[in-house]
Amino acid sequence: MLIDHLGRKIEYLRVSVTDRCNFKCIYCFTHQNWKWLPHEEILRFEEIESIAKVFAKLGGKRIRLTGGEPLLRKNIEYLVEKLSQIPEIEDLSLTTNGSFLETLGEKLKKAGLKRINISLDTLNKEKFEKLTGTSEFEKVLRSIDIALELGFNPVKINTVIIRGFNEDEILDLAKLTLEKPVEVRFIEFMPIGKNSLWNEKHVVTIKEIKEVLESFSELIPDSSFGGGPAKVFRWKEAKGKIGLISPISEHFCHKCNRLRITADGRLRPCLFSDKEIDLKPILRKGEGTLEEAFSLALKIKPSEHNLNFTLKPMRAIGG
Ligand code: GTP
Ligand code: 5AD
Ligand code: SF4
Repeated sequence: MLIDHLGRKIEYLRVSVTDRCNFKCIYCFTHQNWKWLPHEEILRFEEIESIAKVFAKLGGKRIRLTGGEPLLRKNIEYLVEKLSQIPEIEDLSLTTNGSFLETLGEKLKKAGLKRINISLDTLNKEKFEKLTGTSEFEKVLRSIDIALELGFNPVKINTVIIRGFNEDEILDLAKLTLEKPVEVRFIEFMPIGKNSLWNEKHVVTIKEIKEVLESFSELIPDSSFGGGPAKVFRWKEAKGKIGLISPISEHFCHKCNRLRITADGRLRPCLFSDKEIDLKPILRKGEGTLEEAFSLALKIKPSEHNLNFTLKPMRAIGG
């Protein structure tokens, strides 16, 4: 079992398979001179598979593929198939911007992917275009229905609420759960990435979001399949659920169950600490073992996050 120095049980590995993205979300592309990681720095599928197998052997149960946009990785379904065959892994999921689900959804389902979280911060086409730098709004909206039709379960929608940008859409976004059996999760805006436009004033707390949601109808506590930090509720008249993720106003570090692998193969114990263990020398030069690297990660995992700006952008860490 993977137990860290504070007794936290680690069973969730989030693997960023690429730092590349076809979107340019303003909170993710935070500085002008960004560069993609060089190709040779990015982990190969066999390398990710080796890491996943060791993680599973040590007691890991859940793996999430993230990015960047993970579906930009060529033949990603091949990796999904390999990971879905690891018997100890009970939960294999993907976080995506949704723009490739129309073309890849069916292949991913066949390869053994269980569930999908789609990012969508606004229901307004113009705002969407401003936020993401793309005109993929309709495609992303459609991807929610595609994910449901293909039988991914649950399908979750990630919405970052930013004051001055989309706090006026909280109810409209939550009302998606009246029509569709999805879980809409509201996430507090976090300070991530060099020169992030983050400012405390932009944070809409989960308490405020909850008040808005309760002005429509009472929120009934519920639960959801998943291993993440969301607290889950539902409106009694809804088909879906509502998740609340509060990294800023009420952090969940004492319950943190995860480690991350960055796109360039660094084992990262916390989203908010740039302390990392480079796995590439182990994988490519045989210097040490993955077991030792996991054991070190458990020793250096911070007790709680420090909200000084994390310098790496979200797309390189993997959300
Ligand atoms: P499930 O509950 O298993 O579906 O996964 P999840 O909520 O962990 O996955 P997802 O990639 O959808 O994450 C949603 C958001 O929660 C992320 O984009 C982050 O904003 C936030 N989040 C996830 N894990 C952490 C964490 O360890 N620390 C902090 N501060 N935020 C996190
Ligand atoms: N704060 C909160 N969530 C963020 N995401 C990206 N950057 C931030 C941030 N600074 C979210 C995206 C996506 C998920 C992977 O991470 O909206 O849903
Ligand atoms: Fe791409 Fe996600 Fe970053 Fe937006 S937040 S640019 S979709 S990696």
